[in-house]
Amino acid sequence: MSIKKCRQEFEKIFKKYPDKTQALLPCLYVAQEKCGCLTEEIVSFLAQRLDLPKVEVYSVITFYSMFSFEKKGKFVIRICMSLPCYLRGSREILEAVVEEALCIKPNQSTEAKKFTIEPVSCLGLCDIAPAMMINKKIYGNLTPQKAREIIRRYKQEKDK
Ligand code: FES
Repeated sequence: MSIKKCRQEFEKIFKKYPDKTQALLPCLYVAQEKCGCLTEEIVSFLAQRLDLPKVEVYSVITFYSMFSFEKKGKFVIRICMSLPCYLRGSREILEAVVEEALCIKPNQSTEAKKFTIEPVSCLGLCDIAPAMMINKKIYGNLTPQKAREIIRRYKQEKDK
């Protein structure tokens, strides 16, 4: 995976954030979005350009669940497993999505790379717990039934 796709965006970010450490997160976000996953080439480029040790870049990548070195599905389903959501049934939501809808385990992708399921920490949507996000779209006040219906719609969409 090449960084060519991201170079123009990186340059805009470098100009916007003269403080190099502040530029790292937006750059990683752009790389993840454009390339579908991060690579050693991207890590080396950003470490060199931002004058940061590679280990610091890696530690940011491993801290945030939105970053990955593996290509994710077209639809990334993030299900909050933090306490407020957990107490309102996020485990059942996860089970409904995983077992009944997609037949893959958490942190796996479907064969055709259409779906990836990720149990995550608080999404900042506690007022509508239990919550999940599919890419940037928010779903709250979920029940297992609602979650299954949402996934079914995405499955139909992918077949169009
Ligand atoms: S605890 Fe689930 S969104 Fe905050």
